[in-house]
Amino acid sequence: MTPLTSGTATRLSGRLSVPGDKSVSHRALILGSLAIGRSRIRGLLEGEDVLRTAAAMRALGATITRTEDGDWHIDGVGLSGLAEPADVLDFGNSGTGVRLIMGMLASHDLTAFLTGDASLRRRPMARVALPLERVGARVMARNGGRLPLAIIGAASPLPIAYRLPVPSAQVKSAVLLAGLNAPGETSVIEPQPTRDHSERMLRHFGAEVAIEEAPDGARRITLKGQPELAAADISVPGDPSSAAFPAVAALLLPGSEVVIEGVGVNPLRTGLYETLREMGADLAFANERVAGGEPVADLRVRASVLSGVEVPAERAPRMIDEYPVLAVAAAFARGRTVMHGLAELRVKESDRLGAIAQGLAGCGVRLAVAGDTLAIEGTGAPPSGGGRIAAKLDHRVAMAFLALGMAARAPVEVDDGSTIATSFPGFVALMNGLGAQIAPVAP
Ligand code: S3P
Repeated sequence: MTPLTSGTATRLSGRLSVPGDKSVSHRALILGSLAIGRSRIRGLLEGEDVLRTAAAMRALGATITRTEDGDWHIDGVGLSGLAEPADVLDFGNSGTGVRLIMGMLASHDLTAFLTGDASLRRRPMARVALPLERVGARVMARNGGRLPLAIIGAASPLPIAYRLPVPSAQVKSAVLLAGLNAPGETSVIEPQPTRDHSERMLRHFGAEVAIEEAPDGARRITLKGQPELAAADISVPGDPSSAAFPAVAALLLPGSEVVIEGVGVNPLRTGLYETLREMGADLAFANERVAGGEPVADLRVRASVLSGVEVPAERAPRMIDEYPVLAVAAAFARGRTVMHGLAELRVKESDRLGAIAQGLAGCGVRLAVAGDTLAIEGTGAPPSGGGRIAAKLDHRVAMAFLALGMAARAPVEVDDGSTIATSFPGFVALMNGLGAQIAPVAP
């Protein structure tokens, strides 16, 4: 446990960049390992989640090294060149790592044993096991489809067409990765669009991916199986989900202005920024460009007076990881913010809906949870703060409440900040460099 306290800061200012995108980093390691030749990755997130994926891909036969200048080189084994891992693969805190790699393994004729930390061992894996069993894999999991589990990949994998029962980029990606080593066409139909990093990167490595849009807004993504994946170079954008913390903290602290350079602004990831603008945030994307197949921009944020808004359920997949920090922004806004369609928050690194509600209540914020809707009553003034937050092994809950502490009337303590390193190594130093007052709690 690493308890941290965040005291009231005066203002935040400066230019910064945040670590690489977590979703893009996992995918780069996986696809680079399946390609023929050497892929070079610049800006890979060196957070624990991604390092676990690198370790898993090494255990499956890829050669992955970090160069002195911080680039990562992957010598891939080629599709169907994976080796059976000699030991259990431990994914730590990472739902993305384990689910994507389960997908990949489903169409390889080998057996692997997978596990994770206490948070990951509570999370549902049946959502990926189910379609992967249709591909021909066998999955033996604990009760409720939980880790640890064993997966026996199919010797003769089948291409499937799968309609997502939950809006999940992880499930979509697992099915597409399974389709890589299956003959014929694998399709995923998603009623609500989710982040499309897998589709973009599959194309970048030379796979054929077709995307059709139905009149009702559903998307059908079709991958042609058994492609020749050729090594590729990738420049990983800054993670918009990490940029959200300095961005929201700067909005809340009067006199602040920060510029976050090189942030990924894939439209399927920018729901938070859209919502903050609706709340009145002075927030602009400058210098928009494309890097490694992903749109990128510099994000300029100035302190702003925020008002409560309604956040529609349809927007949830485009900001699914940002509700903890949006809830913090809402606590400072004038009026009520209502967030709909939050059911998926119950199965993230923690029950995030519960963790947010409990944390906000402990910081003097009025709120109500009804089903999958969260309503927060802002008064337009800083909340009291002063709470001791249970972060529940959840990096984003920890960072969100540290951001709240920066602008609240009394410091906020978070019981454990150790998981922050899963997605945002260097968070405390970076925030303090902008003017925050985050410190370890004296024992
Ligand atoms: C991710 C998808 C999201 C998100 C997670 C990363 C990905 O999960 O919460 O942090 O990289 O595909 P779901 O797809 O399960 O919603």
